[in-house]
Amino acid sequence: MDAGGQYCHLIARKVRDLGVYAEVRPSETPAQAIAFAMGIIISGGPASVYDAGSPTVDAAIFARGQAVLGICYGQQLMAHLLGGQVRKGEKGEYGLATLELDETTDPLFAGLGGRQQIWMSHRDVVGVLPEGFSAAGRTETCAIAAIAAPQRKLYGLQFHPEVVHTARGREYLANFLFRVCGCRKDWNPRHRVPMLEQEIRECVGDRNVFFFVSGGVDSSVAFTLATRALGHDRVRGVYVDTGLMREGETDFVGRMAGLTVEHAEEQFLGALAGVADPERKRHIIGEEFVRVQERVIQSRRLLDEHWILGQGTIYPDTIESGGAEKAAVIKTHHNRVAGIQALIQSGRIVEPLKLFYKDEVREIGRELGLAAELLDRHPFPGPGLAIRCLCSESDAPLEATPDGILIPVHSVGVQGDSRTYAPVLAIDSLDHARATALINRVSGINRVVASVETRVPFARMRVRACSLSPERIARLRRADAIVRRLSHESDYDRRVWQFPVILIPLGTAEAPDSIVLRPVDSVDGMTAQSVTMEEDLLRKMCAEVLAVDGIAGVFYDLTHKPPGTIEWE
Ligand code: XMP
Repeated sequence: MDAGGQYCHLIARKVRDLGVYAEVRPSETPAQAIAFAMGIIISGGPASVYDAGSPTVDAAIFARGQAVLGICYGQQLMAHLLGGQVRKGEKGEYGLATLELDETTDPLFAGLGGRQQIWMSHRDVVGVLPEGFSAAGRTETCAIAAIAAPQRKLYGLQFHPEVVHTARGREYLANFLFRVCGCRKDWNPRHRVPMLEQEIRECVGDRNVFFFVSGGVDSSVAFTLATRALGHDRVRGVYVDTGLMREGETDFVGRMAGLTVEHAEEQFLGALAGVADPERKRHIIGEEFVRVQERVIQSRRLLDEHWILGQGTIYPDTIESGGAEKAAVIKTHHNRVAGIQALIQSGRIVEPLKLFYKDEVREIGRELGLAAELLDRHPFPGPGLAIRCLCSESDAPLEATPDGILIPVHSVGVQGDSRTYAPVLAIDSLDHARATALINRVSGINRVVASVETRVPFARMRVRACSLSPERIARLRRADAIVRRLSHESDYDRRVWQFPVILIPLGTAEAPDSIVLRPVDSVDGMTAQSVTMEEDLLRKMCAEVLAVDGIAGVFYDLTHKPPGTIEWE
């Protein structure tokens, strides 16, 4: 039950990792609707149980003999609804703490008694236990850190067993699943392929399926599954070449059996000619996608009742809260097409992966024999190189400041919940700590980059007015291919989550653009850390990238997200 916590999905993931199927539902779901579950976990959340409108659960779930575990806010909510009391703690407890757990034979705590490291994030605490509950553990700050009413199978933990910093967190979850709920270990995405094929056959009946395949992991796995389930004759895949793809991408994806390529390079690049504004770029790309999709649907007569739509939607995309920020953006492309809307509304859609998380989808892909090259690829944004090719509406000189050199290109950032466009500060060393300090201190900038190597002195460079031309896209594509090859050969690509290569309009008349390297580590793209690179590899990249015609310099983005987004737009 999702009570608004950022770790809610992580709990479901950890449960699945233990071999038990779990789904995330809104906390307010009626008890009746989840009566089938062998156990219920209530997640943490940022609210206080006394806040107006704070998340709650149907209290009937505590009275059905179903096992319930409340985590953090979940524990407080359980105590509150069952007649106990929650109050503000004297001080908050954030980060590592030491739990003193009673030695007991209680199934949730079996084998876990004693002192241990846990991870806490709370201010409110349970002050008075509900009747029939006892406290099983405490920390220096929190007298009631674990509660139990074993006969009723009700439990609460103030700490977070789902995060790695809780040393024995996995054992708490395993005890809950296997000893309290009595679950069996029977969920393994690897063994789901025959079942998924059967589900596809049942959903599709005697009709056919078509997919728009992007070349990403999800749509490729969904398409391959459907092909296996129904045979090549009954499944069509279309891949749209927008002209904004990486080098070799269309050939790579086009090799997938049963896939046809819809060439729309001129259409996209034509529509983008002369455009510099980032929001306009995105908007135009969205519009052109709609046009291409409509054209494909019309020309291939995919709208009659013999066809249904296949999509690679995965579990986080179907959930509104937590982690699905980008899903809305990506899906607007598909959903705005009237033809597709009609199919969805009439139930003519099959989404075989909609219950799986990303790494489970990769596992299924491996089971299907798809190449590691495809399954392990970094995420690549739908609008492609367009959002990595920065433009400028006017010429502008660089500005020397005491902190570094101000580059007047406007990269996107996130501050709070809104997007900002602001200039970039360049410093002369690859120093993350210095960059972070500057970002916090200097107002009016989004990012700090290190100037790694330039072909001409910085003083001779300037930002010039330019838009998204085929020439600049080709330049970026070349540099991106070099960086990708070198990071693959050195295994660097396995150590980073994503590695955008950005083109900025900074240079001279002969070499008008520069490249920014943006390797990041992340879990889900919502937050990210800029990461380091070995000197050797960086030098090699610089040398090859600077040899590309038209490139004046190489920079390295030192900014974490927030405040700098992963892409520059
Ligand atoms: P930002 O730049 O917002 O990106 O930090 C977070 C993650 O989302 C990806 N991204 C997109 N993916 N369509 C996509 O399919 C998009 O329009 C889009 N915009 C950003 C980005 O590559 C990163 O992994």
